Amino acid sequence: MNICCIGAGYVGGPTMAVIAQKCEDAKVTVVDINDARIAAWNSDDLPIFEPGLDEIVQAERGKSLFFSTDVAGAIKEADIIFICVGTPTKTYGVGAGQAADLKYIESTARMIAKEAEGDKIIVEKSTIPVRTAETIQRILESTSGGYQFSILSNPEFLAEGTAIRDLLNPDRVLIGGETDEAGQQAVEALVGVYASWVDREKILTTNLWSSELSKLTANAFLAQRISSINAVSALCEATGADVDEVARAIGTDSRIGPKFLRSSVGFGGSCFQKDILNLVYLCEYFGLPEVAEYWRQVVSMNDYQRKRFTRKMITSLFNTVSGKRIAILGFAFKKDTDDTRESAAIYVCRDLLLENAHLAIYDPKVPASTIYRDLGIEPDDPRVEICSTAYEATQEAHAAAILTEWDELATLDYERVFAGMLKPAFLFDGRNIVDLPALRAIGFDAQGIGKGG
Ligand code: UDX
Ligand code: UDX
Repeated sequence: MNICCIGAGYVGGPTMAVIAQKCEDAKVTVVDINDARIAAWNSDDLPIFEPGLDEIVQAERGKSLFFSTDVAGAIKEADIIFICVGTPTKTYGVGAGQAADLKYIESTARMIAKEAEGDKIIVEKSTIPVRTAETIQRILESTSGGYQFSILSNPEFLAEGTAIRDLLNPDRVLIGGETDEAGQQAVEALVGVYASWVDREKILTTNLWSSELSKLTANAFLAQRISSINAVSALCEATGADVDEVARAIGTDSRIGPKFLRSSVGFGGSCFQKDILNLVYLCEYFGLPEVAEYWRQVVSMNDYQRKRFTRKMITSLFNTVSGKRIAILGFAFKKDTDDTRESAAIYVCRDLLLENAHLAIYDPKVPASTIYRDLGIEPDDPRVEICSTAYEATQEAHAAAILTEWDELATLDYERVFAGMLKPAFLFDGRNIVDLPALRAIGFDAQGIGKGG
């Protein structure tokens, strides 16, 4: 079976690597319009960092897994085509700031219509608004040479940093398809791919629209849990409660469950905010303003949490950070990834720069060029220094802020950090990973999230 994936990003790359490894009779070709990205996939220095990915790519590349910029050729050969191109939030025109920009999905559909020389199964993996399959179907039907195209929705639930584990051992695989015979045959073909390594009872099949909506809903629910615990964190700080104790206490209720209750400086990543805004836009479009408002609040609470963190830093630092060196420890949106999309660190850093702070930023995986791009500054900007260790960043700093939960930041030699910092030495833990009483014993003025009292 020939499988092609259009879009060699954080979703397409790992997903196809695992399919190539697990699905013995499949030849998998990942294509992308970005030459540099494909060159990197074909090198020893992969374009994304994801634990366990290197090993699989090394083992499969050139055997069952191929990376190429020949999009047309891969479409011609393929029986199944996965669409994994980006669907960013629109920045212009109707729906700007909320709706998903479907220009890449449309251009991909047109490319498939133009190049196909036979029947194809098209799989939407990109997160998209509900009923996008209809758009793809119309483009394919109106421009193709009479071939049959079956559109399936197969949303991705992998989380970055644990993508390979999530792919190898998913809670479920969701496949939505048309209910007619051709649709069901296509669903079965894709079920067959996943059944190479996933138990059949974990492969759920639904109609197309349920599948598309389930992806947005899953991300909205996950993000809502974080915003809920973050809302409680503000109350904890005001009342003397400890948000981690509250999370543990409520998480042991099996109806609530313990996961996704870690209070933080705010959620980031390419999906949560974008998908919720998408859901909000859909609700408004379908005349459901109250529902839209309900979900919008999840994003507002996240904005509030980031701002509240920065405000707390400034207030603690005697109401001014102007000219002060502040160490930023962690820049990725979560640990074990080099991805910074929508990272809380970007928002905190930008707000601190507006207050004329000097930032010394350290992240174990994020390249300096990404940080400069995200902050919209030139590499020679004197206000920002990129450091190669946490110790270098905290040297002579008035304060340090932990913004990503990297394991190494929990186990730094904090005596050494303290010795290098100006006094009073402030530490703001935006991820609740350090032992605050131990740090206070060293001499830090240390604060966490939702740690009242
Ligand atoms: C993307 C979407 O952001 C997400 O909503 C969806 O669920 C999966 O695809 P991700 O893989 O993280 O997620 O995005 P990104 O790393 O930006 O990769 C997308 C790739 O598609 C890029 O490498 C881009 O060059 C490529 N692309 C984009 C094409 O090959 N053709 C296009 O027309 C547009
Ligand atoms: C998410 C979904 O989990 C995944 O199913 C979907 O396919 C894509 O979006 P991802 O964004 O990669 O995955 O990471 P996730 O682990 O969900 O974390 C998102 C953000 O929430 C991160 O910034 C993380 O630090 C934050 N988070 C997560 C918290 O602040 N507290 C928590 O308890 C959990």
